[in-house]
Amino acid sequence: MAEPIHELGIIGGGRVAAALASSLGADLELSLHARRPERLKLSPQGPTVSSDPDLAGVAARGLIVIAVSDDSIHGVAGALARELGAAPRAEGSVTCVLHTSGATTGARSLAPLLEVPGVEVGSIHPLVAVPPAAVPGFFTHAPFVIETTGEVAARRARELVERLGGEPIGLPDSSEQTKARYHALATMVATGTVSLVDRAAETLAADDSQRAAFREAFGRLAMTAAVNASDGPGRDVLTGPVARGDAATLELHDRVLGGLSVEALHAAVRRAALDMVDRGRPEGGGA
Ligand SMILES: NC(=O)c1ccc[n+]([C@@H]2O[C@H](COP(=O)([O-])OP(=O)(O)OC[C@H]3O[C@@H](n4cnc5c(N)ncnc54)[C@H](OP(=O)(O)O)[C@@H]3O)[C@@H](O)[C@H]2O)c1
Repeated sequence: MAEPIHELGIIGGGRVAAALASSLGADLELSLHARRPERLKLSPQGPTVSSDPDLAGVAARGLIVIAVSDDSIHGVAGALARELGAAPRAEGSVTCVLHTSGATTGARSLAPLLEVPGVEVGSIHPLVAVPPAAVPGFFTHAPFVIETTGEVAARRARELVERLGGEPIGLPDSSEQTKARYHALATMVATGTVSLVDRAAETLAADDSQRAAFREAFGRLAMTAAVNASDGPGRDVLTGPVARGDAATLELHDRVLGGLSVEALHAAVRRAALDMVDRGRPEGGGA
C-alpha cells in the first residue's frame, strides 16, 4: 500500500501559497520558497513557516506545489526541473509537482518537468477566492479540480486535497481545451456576479452612501440567488418575472433601463434567462 504523504514543498509567496502553508504547516514537513519572503502574509492563527532562501529544500520533497502567478509557472517549472535534474534522487522515487492555476493543465505549464525522469505533474485548482492571510482550515469544503499525468501524482493530489478538507471534482476530460473552458466559465460566474452587483448599485444610487448600501443589499440578493443556483437546474430554481412569465413587468423593466449604461447587460441576462426557461418551463414561478 502507498505511503501517505508526510512532506510538502511550496513555491510562491502569495495568497494561495500562504493559505496552503497556514492550513498544512502544522501536519506536514513543509519547505516553502518565496521569491520575496518579506511579502509572505501567513495567518497569525497558523503555524510559523519560514521561507527557504533557495529551491533545494523544496526540490527535495516528494510532493511540490507551485503557487505563483499563471504567467510565471512555466519559468518556475524550468528552474525546478534544473534543480531536480542536478540533485541526486533515490532510485525508483517519484517526485510529483502540481500547480494551482485553473487555466492550464499540469502537462502544459509544467512541461519542463516532464523531461526529468521520475517526475509526474498535474494541477489542483481551488474553486474559491483566496483572501490574503487565509486562516487554517480555509479550504474546508472548497471544490478542487484535480488533473494529473500519472497515478502517483493523482493519488498524492487527492490526498493533499483531502488533508485540506477540500472536495475533489473531476473535469469531463483532461484536455487542454476543457481545462481552459472550465476556468473561463468559473471566471464568468465570479466576475459576472461582482460586476452585476456593482453595476446595479452604481446605476441606482445617487451618492456614495447609497452606493455602499445598495452594493451590500444587492450582494445579499446575489448570495440568496447563488444558494438557489447551486440547488438545481436554473429553470427550476429561477425566481422573478422571467420565471413567472410576467410580460408587463418585463416590458416595464426594458423601458426603465433603456438608455442607461446597464441596458446591454440587462438585455444579455434576459436573453440567457429566457433561453434557460425555454428549455423546459418550471412548475410555477418564485417570489
Ligand atoms: N487567489 C485566488 O483566489 C486563487 C484561487 C485559485 C487559484 N489561484 C491560482 O494560484 C496561483 C497563485 O495565485 P495567488 O492568488 O496566490 O497569486 P498572488 O497572491 O498574486 O501571488 C503570486 C506569487 O507568485 C510569485 N511569483 C510571480 N512570479 C514569480 C517568479 N517568476 N518566481 C517566483 N515567484 C514568482 C509572486 O512573488 P512576488 O511576491 O515576489 O511578486 C507572488 O508570491 C495562480 O496560478 C492563481 O491562478 C488563485
